[in-house]
Amino acid sequence: MKIGIIGSGQIGKALSKKLVNAGYPVILSNSRGIESLQPLIKELGTLAIAGTNEDACNADVIILAVMWWHIPDVVNELKIQLKGKIVVDVSNYFSKDGNPTKLEKPTGVIVAELMPDSKIVKAFNHLYGKWIEADPKVANGKRVSFISGDHPSANATVGRIIKDLGFKVVDLGNLEQAGQITDVGQALSGLNLVSYPI
Ligand SMILES: NC(=O)c1ccc[n+]([C@@H]2O[C@H](COP(=O)([O-])OP(=O)(O)OC[C@H]3O[C@@H](n4cnc5c(N)ncnc54)[C@H](OP(=O)(O)O)[C@@H]3O)[C@@H](O)[C@H]2O)c1
Repeated sequence: MKIGIIGSGQIGKALSKKLVNAGYPVILSNSRGIESLQPLIKELGTLAIAGTNEDACNADVIILAVMWWHIPDVVNELKIQLKGKIVVDVSNYFSKDGNPTKLEKPTGVIVAELMPDSKIVKAFNHLYGKWIEADPKVANGKRVSFISGDHPSANATVGRIIKDLGFKVVDLGNLEQAGQITDVGQALSGLNLVSYPI
């Protein structure tokens, strides 16, 4: 299964490294173009290639790893290519100017409304970047990764991938409910939880 990663900053990079290590081919894109990604591709090895945003959308599962304020433009550009696809939304809401307004809905619901023909799975947003980058194996436990989405089969697919990366996956159900506990400022946001065997 090929994974497209749109956005190759802290989170795109961290996830691409983990995916390649787990044997997944990845195609990465960013705003500055294919040339700018070559050092990262070299570091990632033969399972990784750089492409355009459109190329990344040809993958089976697409991770959208851009800042909140870039999401509408990126989605607008790729709406047709993302139709029917599983899209992993890792975003948290931060305003570009640093003056946040209160969102009327959970972030996952807002992103899903931008792409009504795609299957959105929210993941990783509740973890700080350093915990996404780190080894998910902690002593004899596994770091917890919450996922949520309105399409159970898409949740299951993304859940399997994240499990392959070494995390303990916990499916919290739909975007509306899960957003109320995992979006920034909510009860589970920012927690570094580890699940240990009984
Ligand atoms: N960092 C964290 O601790 C953390 C934790 C959880 C969730 N998140 C979420 O993860 C997402 C990414 O965060 P980040 O920290 O990785 O951000 P980042 O380091 O600023 O990276 C953002 C990436 O988006 C790319 N980008 C911007 N506009 C684009 C476009 N039109 N087409 C393609 N790529 C575009 C940028 O391209 P260039 O490289 O060319 O500039 C960059 O690679 C955000 O929504 C954030 O809320 C972050």
